Amino acid sequence: MAKQLIELIVNGDRYEVAVEPGASLAEVLREELYLTGTKVGCNQGDCGACTVLVDGRSVSSCLTLAVEAHQREVTTIEGLAPSGETLHPLQEAFIEKGAVQCGFCSAGMILAAKALLDRNPAPSPEEIRHGLSGNLCRCTGYVKIVEAIQAASLKLAAGKEAR
Ligand code: FES
Ligand code: FES
Repeated sequence: MAKQLIELIVNGDRYEVAVEPGASLAEVLREELYLTGTKVGCNQGDCGACTVLVDGRSVSSCLTLAVEAHQREVTTIEGLAPSGETLHPLQEAFIEKGAVQCGFCSAGMILAAKALLDRNPAPSPEEIRHGLSGNLCRCTGYVKIVEAIQAASLKLAAGKEAR
């Protein structure tokens, strides 16, 4: 089938890409734009490893067609930090709390957490667990991930107060 030309705005940069109509957003991010921070685990919407933000909402990029993201704002883990030298408070907290082991789930977890904190800046542990229920981690047992997200929410709130 003929490829379609689409425009993606990824991490603030515009890309024109010719894609197969059935290509997933995950495939295009990884294989056309070389943004391999987005991981593909199950490739069927079960694990959350491929989570990215589209117009600020978390989606499974393995289940999202690239053509559906035409002219939308996509954020991947590569675009979360404000600069190459500074990490996002969520990334810092994941490191500080030991919430990363093999790291395969981490990009998806962090982006799902970003969407959660944007909706609810001070979630309870239960709300965090619920917000991340679509993201699986085989390594950490989730406790440190929940702690990291709580720590990041405090850091983000303190940053806002300081402004
Ligand atoms: S790779 Fe997309 S949900 Fe598992
Ligand atoms: S850190 Fe290994 S799957 Fe989560």
